[in-house]
Amino acid sequence: MNAIRKIGNLFSLFRQAFGEYAWSIALMAALNFLSGLLEGIGVTAIIPLFSFIGGATKANDTISLAIAELFRFLHLPYTAKFLLFFMVALFLSKAVFLFFSQQITAKIMADFEERTRSMLLRITFAARWPFLSSQKVGHLDQMLTTEVVASSSILYYLSGAALVSANLIIYSILVLNISTIIALLAFISGACIFFVFLPLLTKTKIVSIDMVRENKRLAHFANEHTIGAKTIKAMHLENQTLERGVTLLSLMRGLYLKTAFLRNISASLLHLASVFFVIGLFAFLYKTSAFEFASFAVVVYALNKVITNVQYAQNHAHTISSQIPYLQSVLSYRKEAETAAERDAGVLPFAFGKELLFRDVDFTYQRGEPALSSILLSIKKGEMVGLIGPSGSGKTTIVDLLLRLIEPEKGEIVLDGTPISHVRLKDWRARVGYMSQDVFLLNDTIENNIRFYSASVTKSDIENAAHAANILAFIQSLPDGFKTMVGERGVFLSVGQRQRIALSRVLARKPDVLILDEATSSLDTESETLIHESIERLHGEVTLIVIAHRLSTIMNADKVFVLEKGKIVEEGKPGVLLKQEDSRFAKFYKQQS
Ligand SMILES: Nc1ncnc2c1ncn2[C@@H]1O[C@H](COP(=O)(O)OP(=O)(O)OP(=O)(O)O)[C@@H](O)[C@H]1O
Ligand SMILES: [Mg+2]
Repeated sequence: MNAIRKIGNLFSLFRQAFGEYAWSIALMAALNFLSGLLEGIGVTAIIPLFSFIGGATKANDTISLAIAELFRFLHLPYTAKFLLFFMVALFLSKAVFLFFSQQITAKIMADFEERTRSMLLRITFAARWPFLSSQKVGHLDQMLTTEVVASSSILYYLSGAALVSANLIIYSILVLNISTIIALLAFISGACIFFVFLPLLTKTKIVSIDMVRENKRLAHFANEHTIGAKTIKAMHLENQTLERGVTLLSLMRGLYLKTAFLRNISASLLHLASVFFVIGLFAFLYKTSAFEFASFAVVVYALNKVITNVQYAQNHAHTISSQIPYLQSVLSYRKEAETAAERDAGVLPFAFGKELLFRDVDFTYQRGEPALSSILLSIKKGEMVGLIGPSGSGKTTIVDLLLRLIEPEKGEIVLDGTPISHVRLKDWRARVGYMSQDVFLLNDTIENNIRFYSASVTKSDIENAAHAANILAFIQSLPDGFKTMVGERGVFLSVGQRQRIALSRVLARKPDVLILDEATSSLDTESETLIHESIERLHGEVTLIVIAHRLSTIMNADKVFVLEKGKIVEEGKPGVLLKQEDSRFAKFYKQQS
């Protein structure tokens, strides 16, 4: 019962993963089956051939009679020579069928890999931010490389399984054609062996689940530590890091050995079982049979084939069992990512005429205390608004709500009276620019980093934006100008230069609203002044929402909001708040000067 349920589960898993290739798989299986069939008939033709050569009595088993009948039907002389041609033709066609079936397998695998990879990329980029932010670095990489390849190799082994089953059936028929008893014995032993070895297959799968997990951990380890390499070097922690990596590797080694042991023990046991079976059979035949030589040779050949194919089947089953967890991992990620798909219910275009308003907004992250509660804030078009407050007070959470990366748990955010969720997400994100402290640069040219996939951004937009971000003179001073490569994550540039390039990127898209989250916090005064000047130039043209630790950055703001523990505790014009001795703003100011 259990075995049947397992097979059922397996079937539904394969249908889910490979369902769209059902017809190609059927064709592949049919071709494999045909090639097995042709080989089987070719081999059987040995019986009449031998009886011709030996001049013995005419073979009178079913297949030999059928071949004789076929020759009569085709009006071909039933002679040794023509029988030989017939066999050659059979083996040749078998080779042709096998070639086509292998080509089809390769095509299905290539299609599967391409489609699965593009599906993985698509659903990943389409997922909501909270889902994406919880993904570990290296896992997607691991899925795209190892897991997809392991999954598609299942197709290869399934194709092999079609050939193996065809061979098994054909050779069993061959044996059956000559001796019912031997066929029955072989079938019963085969079935017993299958059930005896089933637990080993299950064990293989369990070990393989651990292997999938460890592979992911290794990818995560490598990626995480590549990103953090500078810190590791600077702290001289190479050895400790290595030690952790090596622990992982030795764990993987153990798992590999376990899988190999299970596979090898199965193969050896099977081998032993076959030897006993063949010896038993010989003893049986020796006592009871009165076979003619030709039939006897074919039975031995066919039995040998049956056993070899059972061994193949066993080996394939082990490999498939060990690859299934990779496929399951891909499918379960697909399910999670699809459930986490970002949905856009917005149908309205972005139109900002007057005011952007937070109405009583609450937000709590999955674990922990409310990050924001009862937030009321109003931002008028063209204003520059400052958000200040201690670390962890909820400033970035407000930004993420504005970027629609997360949604309010209670209350709403409205733009000129329209809930922002009614605005098309694509339009929203095109109109709302964002820049944070951790700049993301591609290992590409400065120009491509500013254009950043936006086909609508022209060369002059790029130059104007670079000018507005106070980086044009620097870029022009470089030998390769805008064509200068920035290095991996921008390492060829200083942090201040990277930030001004990131600012140019946002400005080149000419946003209506620009959000700067601690954009200048890590800069020296000179770099900050440069960005400051750019912001000042935008003041009045673009609605600015600026988060800054340094109050100097927002002294020119039209309004500041002071946040504390997720609540707005103060708001007003910086100059006015500064004059009120007991205001929090004034206290912050004193602390900083
Ligand atoms: N992804 C998250 N999951 C769980 N809690 C989070 C998450 N992001 C932020 N928090 C928590 O929410 C609160 C507000 O965080 P937020 O990042 O908005 O603060 P912040 O004002 O921007 O701080 P900082 O000035 O240090 O950047 C903090 O207590 C933080 O621990
Ligand atoms: Mg923050």
